[in-house]
Amino acid sequence: MDIAKVNGYIDANRERFLAELFDLLRKPSVSADPAYAKDVHATAALLATHLTGLGIDNVETCPTKGFPIVYGEKVIDPSLPTVLVYGHYDVQPADPIDLWTSPPFEPVIKDGKIYARGACDDKGQMFMHVKAVELMMRTEGLPCNVKFMIEGEEEVGSDNLGDFVKANKQRLKADLVLISDTSMLANDVPSITVGLRGLSYLQVEVTGPNRDLHSGVYGGAVANPINTLCQMVASLHDADKRITIPGFYDGIIPVTAQERAEMAKAPFDEQEYMRDLDMNAVEGEAGYLTMERCTIRPTLDLNGIWGGYIGEGAKTVLPSKAYAKLSCRLVPGQLPDNITRLVKEHLERIAPPSVKVKVTPHHGGMPYLTPTDFAGYRAAHRAMQTTFGKAPLPARGGGSIPIVALFEEELGLKSVLMGFGLDSDAIHSPNEHYGVFNYLKGIETIPFFYQYLVEELG
Ligand code: BES
Ligand code: MN
Ligand code: MN
Repeated sequence: MDIAKVNGYIDANRERFLAELFDLLRKPSVSADPAYAKDVHATAALLATHLTGLGIDNVETCPTKGFPIVYGEKVIDPSLPTVLVYGHYDVQPADPIDLWTSPPFEPVIKDGKIYARGACDDKGQMFMHVKAVELMMRTEGLPCNVKFMIEGEEEVGSDNLGDFVKANKQRLKADLVLISDTSMLANDVPSITVGLRGLSYLQVEVTGPNRDLHSGVYGGAVANPINTLCQMVASLHDADKRITIPGFYDGIIPVTAQERAEMAKAPFDEQEYMRDLDMNAVEGEAGYLTMERCTIRPTLDLNGIWGGYIGEGAKTVLPSKAYAKLSCRLVPGQLPDNITRLVKEHLERIAPPSVKVKVTPHHGGMPYLTPTDFAGYRAAHRAMQTTFGKAPLPARGGGSIPIVALFEEELGLKSVLMGFGLDSDAIHSPNEHYGVFNYLKGIETIPFFYQYLVEELG
């Protein structure tokens, strides 16, 4: 792979690479909202058309109980290594819409960044792989085999990908999984994600009286489920912001002092972090740095809380019910099913007799650590070194890609998490964006990954 040729191809095709991504971004493939189901299917179809157009073989939009998985492969020689590319073409809902400075599904470039829902997570990052494969096929040829598996349900828990993987073990045979769905430390501080947090997600329903009541006639004498729910969830953290649920921290694999010292070397400007978020102070578990709190430590957060009257004006109601959605980010050593059970039992235990509590588990996901001493990591490291001109740092990511643990379990494959996003790209938030630099850098770097992988495995 010749860097001048790679960059020559990118320069010559830059506008088309952007235009094709824009077409993909115009499709509102929101997997969470049934109103967009047609668009999700249309996005899968468009992606399949791209793969077919490139000359990828056996392209298929594989139906599932939910949204299809787009599969395609180019096996040039079965004796060569095979890269299995995983990504997702579904996106998070765009709301709150009124906080977007331009419509979420009408991509525009502002200050060198592509603004659109999914620009970074994950259409922009996933599509880099399609364009990088195009680049290799149209220049020096693919140095090894590639298989694409792009799903449409990542943002809603990948409910049907597990079945697909289990049913297609032969077809998915590969040497590793390559994923760009994470971030790097900064554009001038390339990094490779070596850990993902797991997830445990629950919904809580607290019921007080059997119907909404007049808050004057009954107020003061019966439990208000909103007050009670607030007290309950407030008690889940102590003054040091440690989670108070018994057993919550049990079994966590400690991060060594050496690893923490290594992490602390990564450049991080807390003032800039606070400025970006318009906050006067950060907050989190005592004894840990900001970057540790959001990567190597577990959390418990409310994701939503509601109940009673929230319309215009005032209504003096004492509500019958209150609800909350809460999620825990988990670190290696914690098991999602176990944490879900601990949280559920704790909430049931601390509820006063004046209310009834119902806790419903939602999806979960295993945390994941990638080794740094295998061919895939070395190939990613060398590729980034080549195109950024600097050695990438290993970095733990705070988000979750639950399916990565399943790739290991079912396919016996390690994943390489070579993401090109930035934490400041506002994924899942209004005004999500992705740098044009990052998009093109990914397309430039990926071919080197393939080349170095062949060398490492050869
Ligand atoms: N791409 C993200 C995960 C991510 C983001 C990992 C940044 C590391 C850094 C992914 O699309 C995502 O949002 N995952 C969900 C999990 C899922 C079960 C909905 C998450 O982390 O909340
Ligand atoms: Mn993603
Ligand atoms: Mn996401």
